[in-house]
Amino acid sequence: MYVPEGIDKILFTKEQIHLRTRELGEQLAHDYAGKVPLFLCVLRGASVFFTDLIRSCEMPLTIDFIRTKSYVGTESSGKVEVDMAETESFEGKDLIIVEDICDTGRSLTAVCNAIREMNPKSLKTVCLCDKPSRRVVDFQPDYTGFVIDDLFVVGYGFDVDEHFRNLPYIGVFKT
Ligand code: IMP
Ligand code: MG
Repeated sequence: MYVPEGIDKILFTKEQIHLRTRELGEQLAHDYAGKVPLFLCVLRGASVFFTDLIRSCEMPLTIDFIRTKSYVGTESSGKVEVDMAETESFEGKDLIIVEDICDTGRSLTAVCNAIREMNPKSLKTVCLCDKPSRRVVDFQPDYTGFVIDDLFVVGYGFDVDEHFRNLPYIGVFKT
């Protein structure tokens, strides 16, 4: 298996991620029965999880993409930009925001605030990982894949300066 320099240990294998993603897909299909939600991927981190999650949802749905940026290296800059320049209208839609991780909670708070202004019918959030011990603003994802300790993770979409996103597992980065 490809384990590049910088990875301390593997936290979740691709099998564990696959299993948990299937469970989340089943839960979402159950909770959104009779609806056609719009799954909104927060680029770039959530992209790998997003494509697996939508394929584990046995239900009608549509997709779109937005982008946020808050990190430089492994330190949160504290400022969050939300780019929705190329998205379609969210008005009257059941939106499900798919994010890679909830850390300080700033990104998802900023995303939810920006999106609420576009009058969706409903708004929920799915996070692959949650680091509740790192929170600085009060935010709770509606659906969470894994609750983790205060570790910097890479792989399966998670990066350090754009590297490691292609790893099929989630690993701990040596900081
Ligand atoms: P928040 O605004 O502090 O909640 O940060 C969320 C963003 O920070 C995520 O979308 C990630 O891009 C990044 N981030 C936070 N923790 C990690 C990590 O452990 N690995 C990689 N990226 C992270
Ligand atoms: Mg991100």
